[in-house]
Amino acid sequence: MRSVSLLAPGKINLYLEIIGDRRDGYHSLVMILQSITLADEIQIYANGTNQIRVTCHHPQVPQTQDNLAYRAAALMQKQFPDLADNYGGLDITIDKHIPVAAGLAGGSANAAGVLVGINLLWSIGLVQAELQELAAMLGSDIPFCIGGGTAIATGRGEQLDTIPPLDNCWLVLAKYQSIAVSTPWAYKTYRQLYHHEYLNDTASLEARAAHIHSGPLVSAIQEKNVTKIGKLLHNDLEKVVLPEYPLVNELREICQNAGGLGTMMSGSGPTVFTLCESQIEAETIKQKIRATIPNPDLELWVTQLCSHGIQLIPHSLT
Ligand code: C5P
Repeated sequence: MRSVSLLAPGKINLYLEIIGDRRDGYHSLVMILQSITLADEIQIYANGTNQIRVTCHHPQVPQTQDNLAYRAAALMQKQFPDLADNYGGLDITIDKHIPVAAGLAGGSANAAGVLVGINLLWSIGLVQAELQELAAMLGSDIPFCIGGGTAIATGRGEQLDTIPPLDNCWLVLAKYQSIAVSTPWAYKTYRQLYHHEYLNDTASLEARAAHIHSGPLVSAIQEKNVTKIGKLLHNDLEKVVLPEYPLVNELREICQNAGGLGTMMSGSGPTVFTLCESQIEAETIKQKIRATIPNPDLELWVTQLCSHGIQLIPHSLT
């Protein structure tokens, strides 16, 4: 039996700006995406049947065809029918560490892992750009999850320009286990409230997207000036999520007051992160947040920024 194991890191958004509508119903975005060391582990086995089976013991993760990991495997079978016939079906096991429905791209990372894993398992030889093209068919964040690191993402989020990686920073992540935010709801509500501010003509959209490359946050990342980075964090979706979820708003304030370089919600939330200069600072801030909110529903993690996306676990390709 052939098998492969991979690490699939989550991500945070250091920057998320919604700049316009797209004909396909999505939004034109300008983002800076950043991988984190908090990662899921994915095992993929050629199971000798013709079925795809997903196993994940996390109660919020579907083991059905709705799972993005399942859809990634189905896409590979469709794209490479002869190899699918040759190697048969797949058993995919997901060991979940990234919080679910949290704005940390956990599901996207799993799908990215499956694409990379099947590429290895079936010896297809697709290069990163080809994998990212397939990934974009499944979801906007999945192309980034393949290569990871630090990247400017424009278009729907799938057009990527990597920038020098930031991996010396620490993070505290905070999320109420019982709160999940629907990403389509967040974008739909944003459109209802802020449509009048969207840019409409292609030239303005292109100019705004290009502007990020020479903007202050990218410069701060290039200079590795973490104090400046902490001050320049931005997320437009906070404008719709925080008023609707007062507990997340309060959590954000508590995290911000606990110290660190800067605090922001990631993606469509509800995870809030605080950027820290060191592991010791992150652990201290985590303890302060816990002392202010003893509620066991609040989950806290200390993690690090990381400079890679999907990684093969050494010697796991058999
Ligand atoms: O692409 P993905 O499936 O991750 O997107 C989830 C949802 O987020 C979409 O269905 C859409 O409602 C919203 N979205 C958007 N514009 C983007 C990315 C996502 O409106 N660029």
